[in-house]
Amino acid sequence: MSAIDWSNLSFGYMKTDYNVRSYYKDGKWGTPTETTSEYIDIHMAATCLHYGQEAFEGLKAFRGKDGKIRVFRMRDNALRMQSSCHGIMMAELPVEVFEETVLKAIKLNERFVPPYGSGASLYIRPLLIGTGAQVGVKPASEYLFVVFVTPVGPYFKEGFKPTPVAILRGYDRAAPLGTGTIKIGGNYAASLVAGDKAHKMGYSAVLYLDAKEKKYLDECGPANFFGIKNNTYITPASSSILPSITNKSLIQLAEDLGMKVERRPVAEEELATFEEAGQVGTAAVISPILRVDDIDENKSYVISKDGNAGPVSTKLYNKLRAIQLGDEPDTHGWVTILD
Ligand code: PLP
Ligand code: COI
Repeated sequence: MSAIDWSNLSFGYMKTDYNVRSYYKDGKWGTPTETTSEYIDIHMAATCLHYGQEAFEGLKAFRGKDGKIRVFRMRDNALRMQSSCHGIMMAELPVEVFEETVLKAIKLNERFVPPYGSGASLYIRPLLIGTGAQVGVKPASEYLFVVFVTPVGPYFKEGFKPTPVAILRGYDRAAPLGTGTIKIGGNYAASLVAGDKAHKMGYSAVLYLDAKEKKYLDECGPANFFGIKNNTYITPASSSILPSITNKSLIQLAEDLGMKVERRPVAEEELATFEEAGQVGTAAVISPILRVDDIDENKSYVISKDGNAGPVSTKLYNKLRAIQLGDEPDTHGWVTILD
């Protein structure tokens, strides 16, 4: 293997040594087993291919100054994957199988966990698919859970530098009572056209409005939204957004810092009042927002007046990273340290 340039990684796929798989058959999950193959051999009538029985997760592991590897909030991802299983009628994956498979995938690929100080991390991608054959629209009776890992740098190439986002009123990502609250591939397929359009126009992401009234902020394509004003952390409440584990963590950290927190519908016009705003997620961490352009309405909300990340976003970002890396104590029990 040629040496990895840890400090210049992008958010992309790199082949590692192993992935770990568990199969569900006859009503039972099998023992997670490693393989070096990057390919999956499945039946052409597998439900994941036709009817979208597919869910995934994203979490990260970090190497600390002490050389130890820390995984961030793994249990929360396991629980969210269970809610995805219920949402599209897949066999429920036990939390223990999720955790065992994730830990095994990290350990077997330990040499790919980026060094402390590189700014990079190990991205962990658990995937659950219906592999049993069906032709009628019905859930499968067989499933595959696979976890692969890949070292990554920032999701947005600008890293912690503010980027502009776009409101494109001609597209919805998820319906009000649809699948926006679970992490399934279909939501991302639904976001590709708008995302591509936004990228071509120079925006880092689409900021979706609620699909019913087109009045309230929902979330960005790959991340939740937050705004800051008057020492308050404000994030949309909506029935069509993914419950972000990063957002939940920042809410706790904001409270720890003595800030107020509001989780409520956020009307688009309120953008004009925010002192800071950002996209938040595992991949995005905090990606500050420079400006929001409502393209079809020809409106623009400038958030960062000087083009830099604001003081509150910076404080929250540093605090979160410090806990993830083990530089500050893990007072909320978010971190699993590998033996
Ligand atoms: N919203 C969407 C649509 C996402 O894809 C993600 C990424 O997982 C998030 C929000 C952020 O969630 P989390 O912080 O759990 O990674
Ligand atoms: C994540 O933040 O883990 C995501 O899943 C976002 C994107 C890569 C889909």
